[in-house]
Amino acid sequence: MSNITFTMIKPDAVANGYTGKIIDQILEAGFTIQAMKYVRLSEETAGAFYDIHRERSFFKELVDFMTSGTIVAAVLVKDNAVADFRTLIGATDPAKAEPGTVRNRFAKSIEANAIHGSDSDANAAHEASFFFSAFERF
Ligand code: CMP
Repeated sequence: MSNITFTMIKPDAVANGYTGKIIDQILEAGFTIQAMKYVRLSEETAGAFYDIHRERSFFKELVDFMTSGTIVAAVLVKDNAVADFRTLIGATDPAKAEPGTVRNRFAKSIEANAIHGSDSDANAAHEASFFFSAFERF
């Protein structure tokens, strides 16, 4: 069934000039782009997005990092979108990411890990509507 996932190209990857290469890899893997934009997150917005991690030891570092530069937010469409996208981007820790995955190619650390991908259909729907109104999704 064709469904959606949500992604962010993170500040490290955008600042390092990897945006085009990452979008190319996503399109080559068969995803289509339903919505996409540049965003600069505020501390409040980043905290709300990552609210589920608020009690984790790395929460402050995560928010500091995600507000440190421009990101690219996007909604992607494909059969089995959530699982296929997580396979495409690789493990959260780039040291454990399979060769050829986005994080293996472009990420440096578990924090500066180049890209986000939703972990369930419910979170994909929530995250997509957190960033995009219906008028911005095509
Ligand atoms: P993401 O998929 O965007 O969702 C939560 C993020 O928290 C995750 O990517 C990592 O970048 C970050 N993260 C997870 N675990 C750690 C950790 N142990 N230390 C720092 N950041 C982490």
